[in-house]
Amino acid sequence: MPKSTTSKGGKSPTATDAEMAKKAADVAATRDAAKRITGASVVIFDTTLRDGEQCPGATMTFEEKLEVADFLEEMGVDIIEAGFPIASDGDFEAVTAIAKRLKKSVVCGLSRAGMKDIDRAGEAVKHAARPRIHTFISTSSIHIKHKLMKTEDEVLGMIADQCARARNWCDDVEWSAEDATRTDIEYLIRCVDTAIKAGATTINLPDTVGYTTPEEYEHMFRTIREQVANSDKAVFSVHCHNDLGMAVANSLAGLRGGARQIECTINGIGERAGNAALEEVVMAIKTRPDVLPYVTGIKHEMLNRASKLVSAATSFPVQYNKAIVGRNAFAHESGIHQDGMIKNATTYEIMTPESVGVSKTSLVMGKHSGRNAFRAKLKDMGYELGDNQLEDAFTRFKALADRKKHVYDEDIEALVDENIANAHDRTKVVALTVIAGTMGPQSATLTLDTDGTHTTTQSIGNGPVDAIFNAIHKLVPHEAKLDLYQVHAVTEGTDAQAEVSVRLTDPVEGKSVTAKAADPDTLVASAKAYIMALNKLQSKRGRLHSQAVG
Ligand code: KIV
Ligand code: ZN
Repeated sequence: MPKSTTSKGGKSPTATDAEMAKKAADVAATRDAAKRITGASVVIFDTTLRDGEQCPGATMTFEEKLEVADFLEEMGVDIIEAGFPIASDGDFEAVTAIAKRLKKSVVCGLSRAGMKDIDRAGEAVKHAARPRIHTFISTSSIHIKHKLMKTEDEVLGMIADQCARARNWCDDVEWSAEDATRTDIEYLIRCVDTAIKAGATTINLPDTVGYTTPEEYEHMFRTIREQVANSDKAVFSVHCHNDLGMAVANSLAGLRGGARQIECTINGIGERAGNAALEEVVMAIKTRPDVLPYVTGIKHEMLNRASKLVSAATSFPVQYNKAIVGRNAFAHESGIHQDGMIKNATTYEIMTPESVGVSKTSLVMGKHSGRNAFRAKLKDMGYELGDNQLEDAFTRFKALADRKKHVYDEDIEALVDENIANAHDRTKVVALTVIAGTMGPQSATLTLDTDGTHTTTQSIGNGPVDAIFNAIHKLVPHEAKLDLYQVHAVTEGTDAQAEVSVRLTDPVEGKSVTAKAADPDTLVASAKAYIMALNKLQSKRGRLHSQAVG
């Protein structure tokens, strides 16, 4: 909404009535012009909870999924792909719960072409105020031959059946041609024609393997829209993977070819190199209306918070130089740039940090900082916590400030991310004592709290970390495999907090989860990260606590 220039007395002190009326007319004309451009509106379809969550280690708990879904709705996402209901009971439950709670966004469930798949998706989304079923099948000859082992005609029959079945559940049906960009165009035309005739209302043509280029993708959409007789009956959608680093460029090119829905994820998380990043797509459209004459309904001031929330929920770090939401996205290091910025920010800034929710004001925090200053600091950093979360974070901040001379933004970020990530954990580290050094064997004495019950054990190991992980194994027997153990310093200095990442894989389901924890003591951070990862696996399988021993 345009900011008002009217002062308290009802009149601007500088502008005349005529000037103000002209300004209002100009704003209205610009808005109308944007609407008049045929279909300038672009539908934002977020698949963080489905394609994003599919990437190794990015698993979210049920509660985290609900929190992310609520946030996406508030941010103005048009369609939220909440999961793949047939994939697991957990996915089904999450899609069902999200369908029940969201009021504005369309809630979508993914399904393959099988009738059971579609019915499971239908069962999950049927509670939604605005349900959608997204059903897909491969159309490239590589996939048809090697994956589906069918003929092209058989696949055409399946397309008709899957769309018709999905339409029995709801009027909003999206059909996707998996590996569309490597599909013979004549065959793709027949597939799209069949899907629309059978009731699909959105046609998604994904670049499943991240292979296409902007020109090629634009051309594909233009050709399909021109050649398919009933193409005006459906909205066309882009869905790009980032294997060659072109997911966002390709998505925007698809719009030029006539697509009006973009499928994307927060922070670009997703299979392999990820999906097109929502924040990049949205800000490209906002920043370059001269070459991208489209509009989205996203409240872009919430993008930074969305990034932080998803990073905390998945424990996937955001690369420092990530466009829009990276820590360095608005940092100016070189003298020449800093000089230009001081003279006029537009010299090196194409969008303001505030436009994506990053505030420049920096409050210095220390052990004398109070609750209000801490809350203001968090707000500046893009976090908005509930009262309980704020209280927990504040207690931990005070404890940290007692141990560490300077508490940097990065320290607070690590602390709050951990708080968000472990808010629902049932098992937590209570105490840890480690004996390490040259006179092995190294040993760890560990106390855990599980639902209010304390258990303690002692273990030895080949080094202190091994001793700690052995102690965890004794208290919480599990078969999960440790895939990754990584330590890095959150800030500079020998008193810096260590941030430990742990990735565990469930050997039965093959799912992996990542968890991050920070502490000035590397060994405490290691124990916390491992336990957080186990909690995540547990909430996937509901097994950890039933196996815990005293
Ligand atoms: O990348 C892809 O093709 C997909 C489909 C399931 C839409 O994610
Ligand atoms: Zn995908």
